[in-house]
Parts: sequence; C-alpha cells; structure tokens
Amino acid sequence: MAKINDNFIKIPATYLFSEIAKRVENYKAANPQADIIRMGIGDVTRPLPKAAVEALKAAADEQLASATFRGYGPEQGYDFLRETIVKSDYEPLGIKLDTDEVFVSDGAKSDTGNIGDILSRDNIIAVTDPVYPVYVDTNVMAGRGGNLAADGKWSNIQYLPCLPENGFEPQLPKGKIDVVYLCYPNNPTGTTLTKAQLKKWVDYALENDVLILFDAAYKAFITESDVPHSIYEIAGAKECAIEFCSFSKTAGFTGTRCGYTVVPKELKATAENGEKIALNRLWNRRQTTKFNGTAYVIQRAAEAVYSPEGKRQVQESIDYYMNNARIIKNGLETAGYKVFGAVNAPYIWLKTPAGLKSWEFFDYLLTEKNIVGTPGVGFGPSGEGFLRLTAFGSTENTIRAVERLKK
Ligand code: MLT
Repeated sequence: MAKINDNFIKIPATYLFSEIAKRVENYKAANPQADIIRMGIGDVTRPLPKAAVEALKAAADEQLASATFRGYGPEQGYDFLRETIVKSDYEPLGIKLDTDEVFVSDGAKSDTGNIGDILSRDNIIAVTDPVYPVYVDTNVMAGRGGNLAADGKWSNIQYLPCLPENGFEPQLPKGKIDVVYLCYPNNPTGTTLTKAQLKKWVDYALENDVLILFDAAYKAFITESDVPHSIYEIAGAKECAIEFCSFSKTAGFTGTRCGYTVVPKELKATAENGEKIALNRLWNRRQTTKFNGTAYVIQRAAEAVYSPEGKRQVQESIDYYMNNARIIKNGLETAGYKVFGAVNAPYIWLKTPAGLKSWEFFDYLLTEKNIVGTPGVGFGPSGEGFLRLTAFGSTENTIRAVERLKK
C-alpha cells in the first residue's frame, strides 16, 4: 500500500482560514438572520481596476484568432510583464534587475510555500511569531518542523517573538539558523521595519550565511518614507534574499491570481558537497517542471495595473482601504482598545480586552457583535491575547463594525 507523507498528520487538520470559515458557516447556519461583517481573511472587496479588466478582455479576444492565440506560455512569465515589473517596481527604487530574475506566478502564497522545494530538509527555519501560517505549515509538510509542543511551537522551528514590548521588531536569532521568513509590512500585525531595522537583518544574513525569504505582498500600503518597498533597497540583499510580491492586495487579484518572485542571480546556497549553487537556476528548474505559467490573459491584466490609468485606479483602492484602516484604528483607540498596525498595512492588530484569549474574543465578536476577526493565536503562540481585523471591507461595513465594537 502507498505510504503517506506523515508530516500531514502531524499538522492541525485544518488551515487557519478554513477553520474560521467553517466556524462562521456553522454560526450562520444556526443564526440565518445574523448580519455578519467579515473582517477575518484578508480578502479584498473592491472590484478589479478597470484598466486590468479591459486588458483581460482584449487578451481574451486575442484567443479567438489563430494569429494571436496563445498556448503554453513561458513558465517564468511573459517578458512584457517581467520587463514592466523591473521598470516599474524596481528601477524607481534604484534597484537594477534582469528580467530573468523575475518569475511570474499565481501568487505569493504558492511561491512562499513552494520555495521549500529547492531547500534542503535539514535547514533550520526561523519565523517571526506571530506569522503568516503558510510559512510554518509548508515547512512542517516538508519535514522541517519536528514535533508540535504543548506551547504551540514546532520543535525544529525557531520563533522570533514580535510583541508590543519589542515594538514588534524580531530580534536576531541566538542559535544557528539557515533560513528566515520576514514579511514586511507585516501580516498579521500590520507593523513594519524601517530601512535601518531591515539592514540589521541583511547584515546578519550576509555574516551568517542565512537565506532571507522576504514577503513584500503588502508593500503598496506603505505610507511612511523610511519603510523599504523592497529588501533590495538594502545593500547586499541580492546576495542573501528572495523577494515575493503579489497583485492580490495591491490590485484586487485575490481571485484573479498573479504574483511574482525575485531570485537574484548573485544569490547562492550550499549543496551537500559544499559547492555554492545559484538559487535562480534551481527555482527556474523547479518552475519549469512543476508550473506551466500564469494564464496569458491574467498577465496582460497584471501588466495593465502599471499603466497610468491602472496606477491611478490601484491607488484609489489602496487609499480606500487605508481610510478604513484609519477608521478602525481611531475608533478602537477612542473606545479604549490597544491597537497596532494600520499605518503601513491594511491590518489592525488588537489586544483582546479583559484578558480574553484570542479564540474567546473571536467567539465573543462572532456571537455578540456578528463580526469576524482572526484570532491572533492562529498566527503563532505570541499572537495569544490578540486579534486581527482587516481593512479590506466596504467603508460602510467598517463604520458599522466600529460602532458595534465601541458599544
Ligand atoms: C490573510 O488573511 O492573511 C491573507 O489573506 C491570506 C493570504 O493572502 O493567503
């Protein structure tokens, strides 16, 4: 009989956001009249930018004629999009990239999960705590987790607590690690690192041969000038970091699916025989084998996000969500809550009142206020006693939710 990957029976049976969806569905089934406001999963609610939809339609029309029809595309993405990304996302920051350092994909979630394919099972992984659960779960699936202890930590993973006490800045690990995931602006806390704080990590990685997996999915929400939009703004980062980016939150592509990953050619890691191998080559090999590229029509839509109208429409949505974030932050602060984030990210990280545990507060909000949040402990042990709200709803619902929370 076939044998399973036993790591799948070690991890909790359901993914965090699936578990929340299930609880909300059960509640809704028992209380069909409940007027539920969803501020749990970070799913956008504004429509796609018009420029993107027009490009998508035009690209769909091209599929009607054999002269313009597209079959298999390049697994790494079409040059028109890779070049646009280099020119629009990196050149303005003074970062020089070659197009073959950019790999277009169906989103940052897949790539941050799949990247483990090219890394040895023996690597010691570090994550910030709380953390986007994909980083931990995918490493556990790959056998890099060890065992889950009663404190909610995996024995082979190093957790870097991010708490109000340390300003949500992860401290450099004490023991030896090989790979660290950093997500800035941060999901779930909505906090971020300044250039000086991120530089400490790049310097540390270069000195200690550590690979940084930098998730920049929320960079479009940055409002403060000393917060980097890319880790490559920091000198030396091309030698120690992979960067993951997404059109999901920036341009409303959560359902449309498109993202990209930058693997600089200078970036190397060690083979068993001690040889230094370029990760760009390995990721290219992985993608060409396991991935057949993002749909042409979707890549045309993503390209249109960078047109002048596209940029304007994207900015409108970002301003809209960040206005929601301000409404939540100000409203909850006025009501006496302790609130973090919401300045450079669409997430609000909130201390639960009256010493409630995260899931207790989640249940209270769902049943008493009909508001769905995400329990902080679902993101890791240091998230206990916190809850995350998203600013991705409509402003109308955001205001109604804040009114309910104030009561
Ligand atoms: C979240 O709510 O943390 C995100 O929406 C999850 C994701 O992007 O996969």
